Amino acid sequence: MRAVAVSEFGATPALMNLPEPEPGPGEVLVKMVAAGLNPVDWKIADGMLKDAVDHAFPLVMGTDGAGVVEAVGPGPADEGAAFRPGDQVYGQFFMAPRGLGSFAEYAIVTPGAAVARMPEGMIYSQAAAVPTATTTAFNMVEKTGLDEGQTVLVVGATGGVGQSTVQLAADRGAKVIATARPGMADEMRRLGADEIVDHGLGDLNEQVLRAHADGIDVIIDMVSDQAGVDRLAALLRPGGTYISPLWSVNPDKMEAQQLRGLNFNNEATPELLTEIAELIDAGRLRVMVHDEASLADAPAAIMRSRAGGSHGKTVIRL
Ligand SMILES: NC(=O)c1ccc[n+]([C@@H]2O[C@H](COP(=O)([O-])OP(=O)(O)OC[C@H]3O[C@@H](n4cnc5c(N)ncnc54)[C@H](OP(=O)(O)O)[C@@H]3O)[C@@H](O)[C@H]2O)c1
Repeated sequence: MRAVAVSEFGATPALMNLPEPEPGPGEVLVKMVAAGLNPVDWKIADGMLKDAVDHAFPLVMGTDGAGVVEAVGPGPADEGAAFRPGDQVYGQFFMAPRGLGSFAEYAIVTPGAAVARMPEGMIYSQAAAVPTATTTAFNMVEKTGLDEGQTVLVVGATGGVGQSTVQLAADRGAKVIATARPGMADEMRRLGADEIVDHGLGDLNEQVLRAHADGIDVIIDMVSDQAGVDRLAALLRPGGTYISPLWSVNPDKMEAQQLRGLNFNNEATPELLTEIAELIDAGRLRVMVHDEASLADAPAAIMRSRAGGSHGKTVIRL
């Protein structure tokens, strides 16, 4: 099968011909139709998890994807997989120890993996854009306890996680301040942002304080390092919450300032994917695909994401 893989940690992603994976007992083989690109894909290829789990090489890249179940692994049907041939599924497909991922013509789903049936009205490219970014946004908003009437600053709002975060925060009735360069400002407003601050102009504190001299309640920050977090935390009122999926928060330091500091690691589940699909079906959440690439063009798209030049979600067609 054709797949985009790396031959070792840090290697340049390349299109390769690799053996089609075989589903074991309880597993299913999925013919992938679309895959979603996330920064975690190149971070893993660079060795982010090398001390935590085994990796098999060539390592097929890619976590998110959507496709059709093609075959079920051996074993009694009633003890077997949750899916049947022909089911349309979407979710997370990466398995480092077996060198398998979603940037391939075929992927494997193991029992309990964060894969669910695709909702009726969803198309493959949309479904592939959802799993990591939207579940992360959902879980982070939930963890902050963001409430109706509170003010939240979303840093990195124009990215994959950020765009869902803006919508989910607005859906809760919060007042949303989103970071965006001028070209993305209107889109952020359409997603529910009440105010825009332009990170291209430099200091965000000054821009936020102009309209919120008394401070804000929550910061959800997909971008800042520790120094950036320390600076932005000055925007929070006493009792405010700061959350970082980059682990840039020092919770003790926050506590000393009467703030709640949270570092976050996402865990997606099939149930959460189903809940998110319902929000999308109900029109409460939109998924926008900003860029589509063929599998042959995927290595270039991965390099663009690594260089920080992607806006919103990139989907790879298989
Ligand atoms: N811990 C976890 O479980 C977890 C889960 C998911 C994601 N993450 C991490 O969260 C980060 C965001 O993920 P993503 O998928 O949303 O990435 P993404 O789609 O690449 O988006 C990043 C966004 O940040 C914006 N940005 C860059 N510098 C900025 C700045 N100084 N201020 C404000 N915005 C800025 C970019 O816009 P411009 O190009 O216009 O600047 C871009 O739209 C990644 O590092 C990812 O690995 C962690």
